[in-house]
Amino acid sequence: MNLTRQHALELDARDPLAHARDRFAIPDGVIYLDGNSLGCLPKNVAQRVAAAVEDEWGMGLIRSWNTAGWYTAPQRVGAKIAKLIGAAADEVIVTDSTSVGLFKILAAALRMRPDRKTILGITGDFPTDAYIASGVAKLTGTTFKRVGDRDLGAIDATTAVVSLTHVNYKTGFIHDMRAITEAAHAAGALIVWDLSHSAGVLPLELAKLNADFAVGCGYKYLNGGPGAPAYVFVAKRHHDTFDHPLTGWLGHIDPFAFADDYKHAKGMDKLLTGTPPILSLTALDAALDAFDGIDLHQLRTKVEGLTSLFVALADERLMRHGFTLASPRDAHQRGAVVSLAHAEGYAIMQALIAHGLIGDFRAPDIVRFGFSPLTTRFADVFDAACIIDELMTGRAWDTPEFKSRKAVT
Ligand SMILES: Cc1ncc(COP(=O)(O)O)c(C=O)c1O
Repeated sequence: MNLTRQHALELDARDPLAHARDRFAIPDGVIYLDGNSLGCLPKNVAQRVAAAVEDEWGMGLIRSWNTAGWYTAPQRVGAKIAKLIGAAADEVIVTDSTSVGLFKILAAALRMRPDRKTILGITGDFPTDAYIASGVAKLTGTTFKRVGDRDLGAIDATTAVVSLTHVNYKTGFIHDMRAITEAAHAAGALIVWDLSHSAGVLPLELAKLNADFAVGCGYKYLNGGPGAPAYVFVAKRHHDTFDHPLTGWLGHIDPFAFADDYKHAKGMDKLLTGTPPILSLTALDAALDAFDGIDLHQLRTKVEGLTSLFVALADERLMRHGFTLASPRDAHQRGAVVSLAHAEGYAIMQALIAHGLIGDFRAPDIVRFGFSPLTTRFADVFDAACIIDELMTGRAWDTPEFKSRKAVT
């Protein structure tokens, strides 16, 4: 690979998605490689949220539930996300956080396999997935069992549901969605995919692959803003049969009848629990317009190009500083994250942030860079590698200030 800045600029000039960056407000002087944690701000969001606050809330007041589309926002925003994950518009709804959505879905899946007693997950997944699975298991008298991510032969006749993240949060490793879904089904189990690090980065075909359930974050690659609500997918074939225990009033078939007894709504609407966070939903709704006209296959190609360039630059300039590659070397097995392991990872990332290169740190030793394809340029990748190289050469990270731990890493 030709590893000059000129080459990176040429890649940018040939990038069919280069125009998309202009849809975002990105601060000058910052190279932002953390869209895997919190996506950049799309330019249309501030105005849209301001209108929701000033006009819809301020002037419309309670009337806006009917007149401003608030009541149907979970379904409307779900339909936008459906296009990114290969689902039908009425198979996705936006509600709660990913953690809460996962709770509902795991409980629903267990109810659909009452004679089976195991939730099967994998080690090394994002902690909330395991914490929620343990909590659901405790509540339902079932077992949460974790196996290594290459040991999914462990799916057997006792497995009610297999639950895992498609793209690993720490390494970017992509699991084989087709093979694992088929293995779960062959054993009579259901499957739940966490798509938090997949949607908005690569094309997904949930319906084609016959997936049962999925959940995912709104604030990462979908750019919905801090604490944006999450989405849930349920395959249409399960819409009549699934139900879950968080039976709040908005999941009732007729919430405004104020009936004493719960009777669930049809289809995805039964996944609603309480009043949705309308201002956050508004932000996510507007943010998703950044994907208008974006070819998801081009998105994938760009992710492979950006991450491959970074890996090549890391090999050339960074490994000599004590880093090792913690992500797959094969671009086909990698999402939009490249992680480097280093014993001083925390201080290094703090120093990089102070120098305008924003990534994040994941304990115990991972320096993580996310190459969000709508906002990252190839020249950013080149410049990022130069900044890291320079900072390591000058040991700029080696100060008490950068070693003192903050609450959020
Ligand atoms: C794979 C994965 N799932 C779930 C979550 C957490 O989602 P939430 O905060 O919406 O519950 C994260 C957060 O980083 C994540 O990486």
